[in-house]
Amino acid sequence: MKEQQYHSIALVSDGLRFLDQTVLPANACTVETDDYREVLDAIRNLRVRGAPLIGIAAAYGVVLAAREFCRGSSAECRTRLLEACDELAATRPTAVNLFWALERMRAVIGSIDNHTELPAALEAEARTIHNDDAARCESIGLHGTNIIPAGAGIITHCNTGALATGGDGTAFSVLLRAHRDGKRIHVYADETRPLLQGARLTMWELQRHGIPSTLISDGTAAMLMRQGRVRVAITGADRIAANGDSANKIGTYGLAVAARHHRIPFYIAAPFSTVDLSLSSGEEIPIEERAAEELTQLGGRRIAPEGVDTYTPAFDVTPAELITGIITERGIIAPPYGETLRHNAT
Ligand code: MRU
Repeated sequence: MKEQQYHSIALVSDGLRFLDQTVLPANACTVETDDYREVLDAIRNLRVRGAPLIGIAAAYGVVLAAREFCRGSSAECRTRLLEACDELAATRPTAVNLFWALERMRAVIGSIDNHTELPAALEAEARTIHNDDAARCESIGLHGTNIIPAGAGIITHCNTGALATGGDGTAFSVLLRAHRDGKRIHVYADETRPLLQGARLTMWELQRHGIPSTLISDGTAAMLMRQGRVRVAITGADRIAANGDSANKIGTYGLAVAARHHRIPFYIAAPFSTVDLSLSSGEEIPIEERAAEELTQLGGRRIAPEGVDTYTPAFDVTPAELITGIITERGIIAPPYGETLRHNAT
């Protein structure tokens, strides 16, 4: 089968073009904007999502802001650009890639004296962040395929493909490389309640690459493991603390617990832009809570009684002791993670 290509985001001459992920898979609708405020809104509302991709989108958002603000005086341009960085940083709290990318953009703003040069310099930096992520994804795939046995059933959670990154993905890149290597894998994708990134996005990506796959409800994972149909579990991460504790989409922790119980290796795949050495453990990772409606409604229809109490963390933290290895662009890191993460971080 011929693989069908798609791009989640691209800077074009008039602005930023991105796929609106909230309407996939029914519509592959592309949005084009020259206003960084729309990028803000897109990140906040998950039209653009996934840890590396929101960093890339925010960097491009700063480029749009520079095109808008750098025609005026130097002082005004810098102040408004830094304000735009702050606004972009306030969109989502958990994925550290967002803050990592904005830090790089702030460094460019601080290092260029002539403000008329800022739009081009910021564009170059944003494109580098994007291109580097694509290269990191490829390396993650190349390293990760080594842990995939031929003929394996592999379970994954949430969406970690091209829709979540600047390249082929994190955990998804491993699946793709193993598939392209002819390993005859079969992927089980958790639907990923409540926003269904697994059902809507991962299944869409798996189909477009022709990877044999089955959609399951989140609650099916443990039973599938007990039945012996899964040999490896692999997910991405939104932030990895210095000790290896890893935050990822809500439900990942439960998957890791089930994998440990069934003696199935559980891997995290992530670039070093996801590692936050400033946090000693996962307990310090800020966990985003989303609106109650994301749980009480499905496709715009209410599925819970009016007035129910809800608890809606978007992410959970998998403790390092449940993680068999962390697949990075620089190789697969084995526990204990602390020293190796510190040694390899940029
Ligand atoms: O809320 P989302 O859809 O942005 O959450 C995304 C995830 O949790 C992914 O698994 C994560 O970003 C890792 S991979 C690219």
